[in-house]
Amino acid sequence: MDNQNRGATWPTWLPLRDDLRDQVPYGAPQLEVSTRLNTNENPFGPSKTLVKDLESAISEIGARLNRYPDRDAVELRRALAQYLNQLSDTRFSEVNIWSANGSNEVIQSIFLAFGGSGRSAVGFEPSYSMHHNIARVTGTSWITVNRVGDFVIDVESARSTIAAKKSSLVFLTTPNNPTGTITSINDIRTLGRICAEVNALLVVDEAYQEFSQESSAITLVDEFPNIIVCRTMSKAFAFAGARVGYLVANPAVIEAMLLVRLPYHLSSATQALALVALSYSRELLANVAHLRRERMRIKKELERIGVETLTSGANFFLFQTDDPKSLWKALLAHDVLVRDVGLPQYLRVTVGSPEENDRFIAALSKALGSSATG
Ligand SMILES: Cc1ncc(COP(=O)(O)O)c(C=O)c1O
Repeated sequence: MDNQNRGATWPTWLPLRDDLRDQVPYGAPQLEVSTRLNTNENPFGPSKTLVKDLESAISEIGARLNRYPDRDAVELRRALAQYLNQLSDTRFSEVNIWSANGSNEVIQSIFLAFGGSGRSAVGFEPSYSMHHNIARVTGTSWITVNRVGDFVIDVESARSTIAAKKSSLVFLTTPNNPTGTITSINDIRTLGRICAEVNALLVVDEAYQEFSQESSAITLVDEFPNIIVCRTMSKAFAFAGARVGYLVANPAVIEAMLLVRLPYHLSSATQALALVALSYSRELLANVAHLRRERMRIKKELERIGVETLTSGANFFLFQTDDPKSLWKALLAHDVLVRDVGLPQYLRVTVGSPEENDRFIAALSKALGSSATG
């Protein structure tokens, strides 16, 4: 179905909220193409041994599907804490972790608990548009602070907006989607302090953290009870289809999540599959290193054919063009799908498998060659 704005064409019998009538469902085009590099998916599917272990986990829980799952997913939260402790030398346990169906659901729960009517949230844009969308759906006002230069955050202008607006939530995505920009851990610490002064929560969306070299904001959670870090298994773990996201925070935040979650929100299948995937973290993180190397390789190739790219700490990056719409179409004509993220001078490409990346580079050379010759 197309993401059409129905505007005034909703049926009169449908008591849809007035503030939703003009909205369009979120989503990138899902087109049938040989090279799909538009949704920041990880191109490497699970290995044969991982698939086998996932199958055994499913057949084990199959016999118990008459029962509800562990309502609070304690074993999974404990395993997520262990995974993070290994990565960042932290000391988290399940009391610091909340998990839900993708980090989108985690973000929605944050808005349900801390946003809502009469409250506001600040975001540094351009950034992940679901933060703004979920704000709207939960009746939270949305306040934008524009990123400057190559899409970095000007901490001083952030300070004045946060101090003036007294929002309950401030969203920071790092590495940022769609720009790939990293915010340094020092700047996150400063923002954490600024937020604490007005009793705001700083929500750091680290969906792409494993692809970056910067320290994770989870290392600040002990020091700053007002910092919440959202992460996902969709990207580094190549587990987007399973829908597993999580947050790391002070235990009081986790207790607040219990107030807004639906009972049994995370199915037994999801919990069991995620536990298996976490036990393969070493293998899966090796693929992340491979993707980082591919990111460097493609960027070099693009520079060789005269296309400028922006520095990125994620599994995607922006590349420059004077005419994103025409180039997007030209690439599609070569069976390559990238993302037009609505920035006037850029398109975004996800780092794929080496073969996909080669096809993208070849298609881009051809598309630019044909547009250069008219
Ligand atoms: C910055 C950011 N946060 C969160 C998400 C949501 O991820 P998921 O719901 O698959 O965990 C995405 C997905 O692309 C993203 O780019």
